[in-house]
Parts: sequence; structure tokens; C-alpha cells
Amino acid sequence: MSKIVATGSYLPANYYSNTDLINKYAIDSSHEWIQQRSGIEGRYLAIDDESVGDIAIKAGQNLLSKLNHDISKEISFIVVASMSSFSPTPSLANQVQAALGATNAWAVDINAACSGFIMALELANQVSRNYSNGYTLVIGAEKMSNILNFEDRSTAVLFGDGAGAVLIKNDGQQLKGYQHYLATASDEALSIHLKRQEEKFFLTMLGRDVFNFVNRTVVNSLQDFIEIHQLSFDYLICHQANQRLLDIFAKKLKISMVKIPSNIKDVANTSAGSIPILIDQMVTDNLLKLDGTQKVILSGFGGGLSWGHLYFEI
Ligand code: ACO
Repeated sequence: MSKIVATGSYLPANYYSNTDLINKYAIDSSHEWIQQRSGIEGRYLAIDDESVGDIAIKAGQNLLSKLNHDISKEISFIVVASMSSFSPTPSLANQVQAALGATNAWAVDINAACSGFIMALELANQVSRNYSNGYTLVIGAEKMSNILNFEDRSTAVLFGDGAGAVLIKNDGQQLKGYQHYLATASDEALSIHLKRQEEKFFLTMLGRDVFNFVNRTVVNSLQDFIEIHQLSFDYLICHQANQRLLDIFAKKLKISMVKIPSNIKDVANTSAGSIPILIDQMVTDNLLKLDGTQKVILSGFGGGLSWGHLYFEI
């Protein structure tokens, strides 16, 4: 079976508490409102000239630095998920390939907003079956501050920058026990929209509508996914959009919060970065051992609309 053998992540150096952010951008908000509505207390934001490519590269470098020998020439495929890049070409994945010296790989970007890492891992899992050896590198990377309007308090306080990465050791088969459910649907109300305003693109979000979509459509589809495949699992690793949504997942699906890890308090919503950053933090904290004995469900949701759930033994 193909297997995740290493993880990495990168968060920019600058941490902004809710109060720091409010003061820096003169946002009409309060720490209490942000904390109570979302669970967020702070986020990391990149400096101006740090690009999404730089952020993706640093997550990849962090991953490779944890291995005991250089495998960069053994990487056959690199996929990077992001919604905040303004570099269609060279793609983020091309930039990662060049920086890591992964000269034997082919590399491609995908965009499925906050579901990006789920879709990228699905793609990586399928592609890795074509290779009986070598490695596949999957990264979710965002510089959400590229696309935030800091005058729009309903989005500015919710997002952060960062990237996470996982490395799959290929052996011509899928990840062990792999099951998947992926979906996209029309967002007629443009509830999550990258909107052009004069010379810039800004993210707009109808937060309550998105909240209801997750609370109904995403939770129900996750319940079906668990029931259809009769899944038992150690962790449900969800996209980090709102702590209140994670609480709803636990309550509706009758899952202990111990099984639903969260880092939204310190990292906020890093879109495609959120699930792989959390996975890497869990590995660092020894909650995930990467020894093939634990079962996980990953669940992502967001713009598009898009959502999906993956199950495998990690
Ligand atoms: N500070 C203070 N007040 C605020 C702020 C703020 N930062 N933002 C909005 N408000 C006000 C609103 O104006 C509104 O005031 P009003 O009642 O006078 O009109 C009030 O607070 C309530 O606003 P709501 O939007 O209804 O608040 P809600 O409880 O729904 O929380 C939130 C908003 C946190 C955005 C929530 O709806 C949410 O998390 N939605 C889901 C987001 C999500 O899952 N995104 C994932 C995908 S993102 C992607 O794909 C890129």
C-alpha cells in the first residue's frame, strides 16, 4: 500500500492576536466577538514580499528536513492546492519543484478553495498508483492576506496564512483502506467569491449562508460517508473554519471532541493549508504516529461550493 511517511508545515513569523489585527487595520470589531463567533484568537500573516510560492516551498523544505536522507530526486509527482496565488505560471508546484530540486517530478496546481487539500490528496492518491516506487508530495498553501479586504470585518478577522505538506511513499496501490466522497455544486448566491474591486481581488463571504451549508449539506454527507462505509476512526480532521462548526460536527455525529482536533484558535482559517498544517502539528505532538495503525477521516468544505471526505489508515 502507498503510505504517508512524512509531514511538514510552515507558518509565517508574524503572529497577530485579535487585538493586534484590530489595531493594525482599525477594524470595527473586538477580541470577544471574534473569539465567541469563531474560536479564533490569533493568526499568522506573511510579510508583503513573501509569496504563496515561498510559503509552499517552506512547507516542502520543512518536510524534507525531517527525513534522514535526500529524496528530492525520487519525487515523481507534486501537487499544490491554493486559492490565493496570482502566479498561474510558473505554477506553485513548478516553483516547489525547482526550489526542492525535484528534477524527476511533474508538478501541477489545483484550486478548490478550502477543500483544496482534500481534492489534492485524492488526485495524489490516484496518481501515486501509477508509480511502484518513489514519492508523491502534496501541499496546501495559502497567503489569504493577498485576497483579504481589511476594511471588511466579516472576512478580515477569520483567515490566516500558512502551508502544510504530506509525502506519500508510492508502491503502485492506494493509501491503505482508502475511501472517498467528493462533491462540488453551484454557488448561485456567490456566498464565497473572489470579487474584483478596482485593481485588486478580494474575498467576500456570506458567513451565515456558508455556516448553514456546512451545518446541513456537509455534516449530512459526512454522516452518510461514515455509515455507508461503516467507518470507525481515531480522528476526524476537519477544515478549520470555525470552532462552532467543529462542535456541531461532534454533537450531530455523536463524536467525542477528543477525536476532532483543532488549531483554529492560533492559526485561524488557512483554507487549503488548514488540514495539512493540523496533520503536521498532530505528528509533531505524537498524536499521529504515521505507523499505519491509526484510522483518520479528513473532511474539507468551502468555496465553489466544494466539499469532500477521505478515509485511510495513516
Ligand atoms: N466584528 C464584530 N461584528 C461583526 C463582525 C466582526 N468581525 N463581522 C460581522 N459582524 C456583525 C455582523 O455585521 C452582524 O451584525 P448585525 O446583526 O447588526 O447585522 C453580526 O455581527 C452577526 O453576523 P453573522 O455573519 O450573522 O455572524 P455569525 O454568527 O454567522 O458568524 C461567521 C459569522 C464567523 C463568519 C460564521 O458565519 C461562519 O463561520 N461561517 C462559516 C465560514 C466557513 O465555514 N467558511 C469555510 C469556507 S471559506 C473558503 O472556502 C474560502
